[in-house]
Amino acid sequence: MSKKILLSGIQPSGRPHIGNFFGAMKQFVDMQETHDCLFMLADYHALNAIQDAKVMKQNIIDLAIDYLSIGLDPEKSIIFKQSDVSEHTELAWIFDTITTVPYLQRAHAYKAAEANLSKEISVGLFNYPMLMVADILLYDTDVVPVGADQKQHVEITRDTAEKFNRIYGETFKLPEPKILANVAVVPGIDGRKMSKSYGNTIPLFAEDAEIEKCVMSIVTDSSGGIPKNVYEMHKLFRSEEELTVLYKQHEGKYKALKEALINDIKTFIRPLREKRKTIAGDTAAVLKVLKEGGIRAKEKASAKMDEVREKVGVKLY
Ligand code: TYM
Repeated sequence: MSKKILLSGIQPSGRPHIGNFFGAMKQFVDMQETHDCLFMLADYHALNAIQDAKVMKQNIIDLAIDYLSIGLDPEKSIIFKQSDVSEHTELAWIFDTITTVPYLQRAHAYKAAEANLSKEISVGLFNYPMLMVADILLYDTDVVPVGADQKQHVEITRDTAEKFNRIYGETFKLPEPKILANVAVVPGIDGRKMSKSYGNTIPLFAEDAEIEKCVMSIVTDSSGGIPKNVYEMHKLFRSEEELTVLYKQHEGKYKALKEALINDIKTFIRPLREKRKTIAGDTAAVLKVLKEGGIRAKEKASAKMDEVREKVGVKLY
């Protein structure tokens, strides 16, 4: 029996953090063995936020290095960047033509952007889900491992696949999100969802001093007992049984508990950081992975796109 197809992606919009790792990237690594995987760098999505060519280039290379450093393996999986496969934007256009404005106005990300009155919303941001729908449907994807904040996007993907199939006949598979309950929303150092845009992250490849600084600034309440934000983050690195003992032993001693968390994060990050330094030393090899991944992804995407052009009636020869 052939393996199920997995696709997921991350935007090259800055350093990934431990929320990205536990919410999504760790699953990428684990599922490589059991699925046919495509891991994408969503560079066209990131254009909504990064509008500086030099920064964009560096971010793409950095994210490719990050992917390889956590153990994504180009021998097992296709690692590619979205902009190398023009079928993504082409298919997004076709989906635009069957999607209504009120439907997209209900997207959480759009609503959040709309609530921020200081900036007018770009068409790219409004249309963001349609490009993500194309990313997923182009490869007959079965499963999309993501954090909880992307759940609605996968639902939009299913709706759009159903709508297209209804209008033009059976063409797209309906994918399932894969969201791990205990890490669906990893909290940041202020207790809100960890997010680059909130500035509350612990970077995945942070240096020791940076880890210390981040953990020491975790917001704690002053009621004594268990500091919730510290505990919630600690759960990522130790079992609840171990934590129960540790937090009992140091009840009310926030500094000692933070120090224990610092040690656990350092132990976890150190080998990843070391591996990253080695991989970062050979940019040419990293670019080769991306380029070859792009060629492999393009092959699959262009076959699917041919089918779509036929279905909508624009393929004449
Ligand atoms: P992005 O780049 O914002 O985030 C990458 C992944 O990290 C997850 N994540 C979290 N999970 C748990 N707790 C957190 N605090 C946390 N913060 C981020 C996100 O849910 C995501 O899985 N739109 C996507 C990129 C994308 C994509 C795709 C994903 C584009 N096309 C196709 C899947 C399939 C995004 O902006 O992720």
